[in-house]
Amino acid sequence: MREAITVRAALRRAQAVLDNEQAAKRLLADCLEQTWGWVSLHHDNALDAHQQTRLDNWLARAQAGEPLAYVTGRMGFWTLDLQVTPDVLIPRPATETLVEQALILGGNSPQQVLDLGTGSGAIALALASERPQWQLVGTDTNPAALNIAKANARACEITNAQFVQGDWFGAVHGQRFNGIVCNPPYIDPADPAVADSVRGFEPHAALFSADAGLADLRHVITGAPAHLTAGGWLAVEHGYKQAGQAGPVGKLFADAGFAEVSTHKDLEGHPRVTTGRSPANHD
Ligand SMILES: C[S@@+](CC[C@H](N)C(=O)[O-])C[C@H]1O[C@@H](n2cnc3c(N)ncnc32)[C@H](O)[C@@H]1O
Repeated sequence: MREAITVRAALRRAQAVLDNEQAAKRLLADCLEQTWGWVSLHHDNALDAHQQTRLDNWLARAQAGEPLAYVTGRMGFWTLDLQVTPDVLIPRPATETLVEQALILGGNSPQQVLDLGTGSGAIALALASERPQWQLVGTDTNPAALNIAKANARACEITNAQFVQGDWFGAVHGQRFNGIVCNPPYIDPADPAVADSVRGFEPHAALFSADAGLADLRHVITGAPAHLTAGGWLAVEHGYKQAGQAGPVGKLFADAGFAEVSTHKDLEGHPRVTTGRSPANHD
């Protein structure tokens, strides 16, 4: 039988692998199904055999380069603690800029809001939690992702969000919304700078888009006016690297007839989100 190790020793092992005290503490808390605070207060507790086996397994996966969110199955986004699996993109802090802009555009009035390519449900659930008076519809082509989004809605006790399968606007044929948010795949498949932990572990259908990353953005922006009410708003996330996508995306908004087009920076100062309003009179 293996000798039991203490929380203190487990933390030391996790830190040696992850080279980051906070990440080590987070991983150990999830592994022991305890809070961060509990880990700090119970350094002398012993791990049981099951916990020790799980820790070995998790640290081996982390050492092999798997993102920690997939190892632990959890990721914080906005105010929510979300389940994530390799079926969904790991929600990024930069996407909180998209949530902020959508909250500003939609204001406090009741709204029907569409989240295209919802993945884990991160954006739809953040908006639904902030605006109980809004009704959110999240869509995705991937049924496994939709199951995660629905599970996250249940776990977060969010009842004003529903999830539908379909290819972009095909999921909401003939429907119009007050607002549309979308964080589509926008990485150029030829981009050499994509980290191994991203290219090797995250779903390629969530990452890459043809035409230097612009194909899905073009499809969504061009199709949006037909699914917005008069004066409705659109907010999309896009890339900023190399030549940057803000310029071409702004032009796509203008060509589709959007007014009040503007680009917003994420917390790192990168132009990351573009927004606009559908003209008051359109078909
Ligand atoms: C960049 S991820 C965004 C996930 C989530 N909204 C977020 O921000 O974390 C893009 C999402 O779009 C979905 N997707 C890709 N192609 C799609 C399509 N043709 N129709 C609908 N969703 C699509 C992917 O499955 C993936 O979940």
